[in-house]
Amino acid sequence: MSKPAIFAHRGASGEFPENTMMAFEEAKRIGVAGIELDVQLTKDEQLVIIHDERVDRTTDGTGFVKDFTLADITALDAGSWFSPNFAGERLTTLNTVFAWMKEEGNHLRLNIELKNDQIRYLGLEEKVLALIKEYDLEERIIISSFNPFSLQRVRMLNASIEIGYLIFGMPDNALWIAQEIEANAIHCQAEYALSAFGEAAMQAGFPLRIYTVNDEAEYKQLVAAGVEVIMTDFPDRFQ
Ligand code: G3P
Ligand code: CA
Repeated sequence: MSKPAIFAHRGASGEFPENTMMAFEEAKRIGVAGIELDVQLTKDEQLVIIHDERVDRTTDGTGFVKDFTLADITALDAGSWFSPNFAGERLTTLNTVFAWMKEEGNHLRLNIELKNDQIRYLGLEEKVLALIKEYDLEERIIISSFNPFSLQRVRMLNASIEIGYLIFGMPDNALWIAQEIEANAIHCQAEYALSAFGEAAMQAGFPLRIYTVNDEAEYKQLVAAGVEVIMTDFPDRFQ
């Protein structure tokens, strides 16, 4: 049985401040196959990498991402909340990550989660797809979202890009929705991958990519179940 690919969840976020270049660099150093990150739009419509809709938890600022300009949001300290050792680390942009992925020796895959299940960022799908085209990175990208309408829009705009339907728990009709939006894979939690649902999804032709696995026993069960990707905050545990 082939081993699943390891993706660093928000970068190596167990050891470094999540969704920062520092966390992504560490993931690359460890030798992961890919990185997962979260994208939102700033007030001036720039693609910024951050998980929460508000900046409060992971920076020294307060307020919604959508109300900051890129200049203002990248002036925040995105490292101190995690450890004083990382004081002064800044948020980054999808452009910067793409430029980094094009550097020599960087062969990472990237799972871009569109963080649009709570807030509708108009034009987010178009902007991300345009940037992928600009950097010629389509072969290395997976787009996911908890919002199936957004993924349907991605598919409408691009017939070939890889789409992962991201589910929390096991929503009704998940397989039906995955088929309807022409997803290539399902991104789910371990519990559901290891249930009859996981079996049915794989039989229906959807590889499973699992978030967020930090436990070794769980990892082994998922390997035995034949999942395709493991997303973890601690890639050094499994790499
Ligand atoms: O993409 C998988 C996982 O990151 C989804 O949940 O809340 O960690 O973004 P969350
Ligand atoms: Ca995510």
